[in-house]
Amino acid sequence: MLRSRVLGTGSYVPEKVLTNAELESMVETSDDWISSRTGIRERRVAVEESTSDMAARAAKAALKESGVSPKDIDLIVVGTVTPEMAFPSTACAVQSQLGIRAGAAAFDVSAACSGFLYALDIADKYLKAGGVKKALVIGVDRFSQLLDWKDRSTCVLFGDGAGAVVLSAEKGAKGVLSCHIHADGKHWEMLYAKSGLQPSPFDKREAEPAAIRMNGNETFKIAVRTMGQAIKEVLDDTGIKPEDIALLIPHQANLRIINAIRERLDLPEDRVFTNLDKFGNTSAGSIPLALDEAAKQGRVKDGDIVLFVAFGGGLTWASAAIKW
Ligand code: ACO
Repeated sequence: MLRSRVLGTGSYVPEKVLTNAELESMVETSDDWISSRTGIRERRVAVEESTSDMAARAAKAALKESGVSPKDIDLIVVGTVTPEMAFPSTACAVQSQLGIRAGAAAFDVSAACSGFLYALDIADKYLKAGGVKKALVIGVDRFSQLLDWKDRSTCVLFGDGAGAVVLSAEKGAKGVLSCHIHADGKHWEMLYAKSGLQPSPFDKREAEPAAIRMNGNETFKIAVRTMGQAIKEVLDDTGIKPEDIALLIPHQANLRIINAIRERLDLPEDRVFTNLDKFGNTSAGSIPLALDEAAKQGRVKDGDIVLFVAFGGGLTWASAAIKW
């Protein structure tokens, strides 16, 4: 049986650091409010890098680590909701920037904070089916452009960043064991951002600025419940028990959400990876950025079972298990 094995990981964050203290001078907030409610202390903000620049830099690092040539990539899937162009896709821009062979398939997936796991699920299915041998899966978002910087309830939560993995279809026990993606569009108003498209001369609807709107309280409760169910789904599907999980890498939105999930699974703190204190919520970038940091720190070892869970606008949610 073919499995999608991770051959390399990579990530990219912009150099500019925006601390909670700096936000205090922009909106009525405090370091204490932000860090106690979310766990976030600082985040990165893109200055010159576009979404595709960030994606390409993360992907370049993943390719380098994997030893796979851009000429051998058959498929590029990018999870993002902040592409700088309506078309071509961010995936096509990455293909061009990295010199990935003409003829490879390339497209973006829109699933907000679940974007990377959605992209992983799609790539995994192509790899298992046999037509695709090597795939590049990227999660990237540049939320600094999608924020209302006067709205303290959202602008303190997000940051910019990207992460990527190179997958290869290989026989054996290692690789993606299970992956599940879901959505429930009826709750879209809980968490959304208009795209900022211009009204046409014939438009009867009011134009709305491109900015995130979120019902934080409700989103919080649904996120805890839904991510708990998503983890159960992957455990039931694979027979993995909570004690077999070497590392859980959850979407990095809020430390209180992550702690609630950890307590439900009865996992010790050292088996749950977090880096939201440094990067905030980077949306689709969050999970692959955390995975790359965990791998570089030696927190993911040969044969380890690594679990992933995400939740975001849509509403969307997803989970996956990988044997490293
Ligand atoms: N600084 C100071 N005070 C603030 C701030 C701020 N930055 N933001 C809100 N407040 C105030 C509110 O106005 C409110 O004041 P009031 O009581 O006088 O009305 C008070 O703080 C409490 O606000 P709550 O919204 O109830 O605070 P809560 O404890 O729920 O925390 C938060 C808010 C951090 C947003 C939390 O609800 C959360 O993390 N929600 C989930 C976010 C999430 O997971 N999103 C999904 C992924 S994102 C994606 O898909 C794009």
